[in-house]
Amino acid sequence: MRAGAPLVTTYLVTGGAGFIGSHLCDRPLAEGHRVIAVDDLSTGRIANLAEARGYGKEFTFFNMDVRAEGLLPLFERHRPEVVMHLAAQSGVRPSLDDPVFDASVNLMGFLNVMECSAKTGVRKVVYAASGGTLYGEARKLPTKETAAAGARPLSPYGISKRAPLDYLAYYERYRAIEYVALALANVYGPRQDPHGEAGVVAVFASKMLAGQAPTIFGDGNQTRDYVFVDDAVHAFALAAERGSGRVVNIGTGLETSVNALYRMLAQLTGFSGPPERGPLPPGDLRRSALDNALAAEVLGWKPWTHLEDGLSETVAFLKGI
Ligand SMILES: NC(=O)c1ccc[n+]([C@@H]2O[C@H](COP(=O)([O-])OP(=O)(O)OC[C@H]3O[C@@H](n4cnc5c(N)ncnc54)[C@H](O)[C@@H]3O)[C@@H](O)[C@H]2O)c1
Repeated sequence: MRAGAPLVTTYLVTGGAGFIGSHLCDRPLAEGHRVIAVDDLSTGRIANLAEARGYGKEFTFFNMDVRAEGLLPLFERHRPEVVMHLAAQSGVRPSLDDPVFDASVNLMGFLNVMECSAKTGVRKVVYAASGGTLYGEARKLPTKETAAAGARPLSPYGISKRAPLDYLAYYERYRAIEYVALALANVYGPRQDPHGEAGVVAVFASKMLAGQAPTIFGDGNQTRDYVFVDDAVHAFALAAERGSGRVVNIGTGLETSVNALYRMLAQLTGFSGPPERGPLPPGDLRRSALDNALAAEVLGWKPWTHLEDGLSETVAFLKGI
């Protein structure tokens, strides 16, 4: 904790009923802080907040759109010191179908949150950026943050998640709000929506548990960097207190192919059949892994969870549903 910082901090988590956001509510509550969650429940679920609600009056949930005018009175009433901004249209495919809606949530919603923060004296904003789309098809792996300079995101989602990085620098310089933007790799773990399009771990594991063959798109040799949700949440907690004015990668630096992931999950779930096959969607990255040296340096962060352990925790969670 910073010298002179209040013992109890009020955090406002947008997207707090979502996969990562709900885990993010639990952690500060467990440490004795206050949490306000804002979510319109478009993809988030009230059930994700069961643990947070157990903390009674230290936790408040508002079913609200981050683009709503009602957000400012909410900030004025609760005076958060730290805002974790996760509310987003969080899928690549929906952004291809409707770039206007994507930008309306990911840009206008973000700006509404920043204006409310500036008007009510928020100390710091921690922003969930997308490390998977920020760098496009990277030339060097694992990819460093500096690679963002010449890169082009391949989708409207990648663009709408990237533009806030420039706004954050503006708000820091001219409106006195500190920030850290966490460029997240592929986050997986309990509560990820198995029916969504983003979470390949949740999609594969839930299909296998139901005795159905998941679909591998392309040859399955494409790679991603899978980071466990507890490790990602730890990065947000550190970023609330450390580092400022930076984009910081949060990933393991390791590449795992879709085929390898399939094999590991098949073993954990006891599934033995071959996968279905489908064509690779356009714009899909071939390889991705994020260099985490800067996270170690400025946040004191490193990933603790081995993929096997995180996958087995995820499978155990899915079995319990
Ligand atoms: N999961 C990943 O691997 C990953 C990787 C990179 C970045 N991110 C980013 O992290 C954040 C959280 O992602 P997630 O995987 O938990 O997805 P999620 O869809 O579970 O979470 C997003 C939450 O935002 C809420 N939301 C959407 N539009 C809203 C609006 N207009 N007003 C209020 N709430 C709204 C949804 O209901 C949902 O609860 C997103 O910003 C996403 O872009 C996620």
